Amino acid sequence: IPVDPFDLVIFGGTGDLARRKILPGLFRRFIAGQMPEGSRIIGAARSEHDDAEYREVARAAIEEFGGEEKKDPALQDFLGRLHYVAIDATGEGGWSQLSGLMRDGVVRAFYFSVAPSLFGPLAERLHQHRIADGDSRIVVEKPFGRDLESAKALNATLASHFDERQIYRIDHYLGKETVQNLMAIRFGNVLFEPLWNSHYVDHIQITVAETVGVGGRGAYYDKSGAMRDMVQNHLMQLLCLIAMEPPAQFEADAVRDEKLKVIRALQPVDAHHIVRGQYDAGEDSPSYRQDSENPRSFTESFVAMRVMIANWRWAGVPFYLRTGKKLKARSSEIAVVFKDLGHSMFEGDEARHRNILSIRLQPNEGIDLQVTIKEPGPGGMRLVDVPLDMTFADALGPDGEDVPDAYERLIMDVIRGNQTLFMRGDEVEAAWAWTDPIIEGWERRADVPKLYEQGTGGPEDAQMLIHRDGRRWRDIK
Ligand code: BG6
Repeated sequence: IPVDPFDLVIFGGTGDLARRKILPGLFRRFIAGQMPEGSRIIGAARSEHDDAEYREVARAAIEEFGGEEKKDPALQDFLGRLHYVAIDATGEGGWSQLSGLMRDGVVRAFYFSVAPSLFGPLAERLHQHRIADGDSRIVVEKPFGRDLESAKALNATLASHFDERQIYRIDHYLGKETVQNLMAIRFGNVLFEPLWNSHYVDHIQITVAETVGVGGRGAYYDKSGAMRDMVQNHLMQLLCLIAMEPPAQFEADAVRDEKLKVIRALQPVDAHHIVRGQYDAGEDSPSYRQDSENPRSFTESFVAMRVMIANWRWAGVPFYLRTGKKLKARSSEIAVVFKDLGHSMFEGDEARHRNILSIRLQPNEGIDLQVTIKEPGPGGMRLVDVPLDMTFADALGPDGEDVPDAYERLIMDVIRGNQTLFMRGDEVEAAWAWTDPIIEGWERRADVPKLYEQGTGGPEDAQMLIHRDGRRWRDIK
């Protein structure tokens, strides 16, 4: 879908996120023809650079973090669209220059890729200098607060300068291709929705497993832990999309209203249903405490939990969530495990055959449905479970491999003015209202996370969490 010409200002334009994701993503959209004539990207940061130097920063970033596209001859043209302004977020420096650069008649978007403490000062100056108007958009990154109180304060700060319809709170998981496909699968097929409830679903598992540790970003991570870094946002969003009622339209507020209802229906989780873990030292790799340079850290790099949703659709259906660093594989999936057959008519068929719909976020994005069939051959009526596999790369041909990065899609949605894949302020607050008591409980009890071996599925207790209910985790592979 084409977009209108735009000026995108990236505050924190030389920072890590800009170099890793935003600039390479914008270049891919440029190649795809989605940066109409007259669109510009304006990097803004504290350090002094001119346009030429900033273009070199961008070139180096694309070479380091880009994929195949870095060889594309269009790079030079793309770099020509880049400009730079040195700006003092909390002072006066650079603002009149930025104001002079802005043009009328194009979409104005401002990406706050900076520490949350700068959101307020930036918003204020954008208004003071009349750089932002009633039609401008701002994009803010996580972490959006560290608890309910700070999230409310941030929302209030932004609301004093911008309307909710101008604020785009990014959760990059919502930009992942498969996450959106989850909605297409649920609401674009007649097959699944009738079964999507406690009558047919035994339980749901959401796993986001990573192999990386926290080395390099320990200072941030040690103050957050897996609960704030992953569960409160990414896992919560996945849970909402899988559990929400069908929105009447695929439209921002219709979708966000339904997600909010899920968060509000979450039951409090007692300590018995949560396991926290922290990775131990491996043979040649440092422990979490070494990585975070905090020898007495009690921060969790792993969480597993059982969550219940108190509503009609999901009464009695457990949602098992887990996420962690330095696990066995980089693998994220949502698995909907359907109930056993009430009765099997096949003699000697004692095995439990189950339908499982698994939605793989990464790697090999795709969806598969485990179904039971007859084992081929003359051996009589023996049943086996096989996957009906739809890996996007296979199903969509060569283009299927070229799944756009989450940031690419989300930035273009900002330009289009489509908020469907962004979190609304009340959603973020509701998510904190649910996580706060859990985190406060750990702090009150001075909870010590269980150590786990690197390259595994997390601490033993995480197995117990689900075994106790007579179920097992799916393999992380
Ligand atoms: C970020 C977290 O939001 O998501 C990181 O801060 C995490 O700790 C990352 O590694 C995972 O994202 P992805 O897209 O690699 O699954």
